[in-house]
Amino acid sequence: MIKLAVCVSGGGTNLQAIIDAIDNGTITNAQIAVVISNNPGAYALERAKQHGIEGICISPKEFETRDAFNDAFLKKLDSYQVDLVVLAGFLVVIPPQMIANYRNRIINIHPSLIPSFCGTGYYGLKVHEGVLSRGVKVTGATVHFVDEGTDTGPIILQKAVEVQQGDTPEVLQRRVMEQAEWKIMPQAIDLIANGKVTVEDGRVVISE
Ligand code: GAR
Repeated sequence: MIKLAVCVSGGGTNLQAIIDAIDNGTITNAQIAVVISNNPGAYALERAKQHGIEGICISPKEFETRDAFNDAFLKKLDSYQVDLVVLAGFLVVIPPQMIANYRNRIINIHPSLIPSFCGTGYYGLKVHEGVLSRGVKVTGATVHFVDEGTDTGPIILQKAVEVQQGDTPEVLQRRVMEQAEWKIMPQAIDLIANGKVTVEDGRVVISE
């Protein structure tokens, strides 16, 4: 059984999808050890509480320097001895030391088909605004390992979603969540928990 830390900043619908997938057996061989938020008001913390999962808050705002936050965040995470760190709408830059220490053990969900509409400045609704202003007809979501770049790590799973005429950023965001994010995030965790994901030459290979 692998232990997960799920890092969140907001509503936590992806966290909820993971909790539900563990409960209904879509994810096997994994349990959530802790939910970590940078935002004390995140509804995701409430979701954790309702399911009897430990939730903690650690925010860069509580520290005088970024280095001090990075050290404290890494120490906190280490104390839970998790096998996999899941970034589920976590809007804090991951400390470089954490990326090095948890190489190929941190995954992130991004609400577009990487390498489109990703990188610095593309998060949350801004991604969907970018999609609509460019006028692409297909978007989607990506689960990837986290490396030193922004949204540049090895891609684990992607799912396409249609853009429809008249979409607003909010409507499109919801469709991408329902049709892609809440499916591929649990699926990726299940694959990793069952030893089916390896990284070879910077690319993910999934075994049957
Ligand atoms: C999700 O759409 C996720 O893909 C996005 O934030 C949202 C969090 O929603 N993440 C990013 O934009 C990361 N660059 P949630 O709190 O309801 O899961």
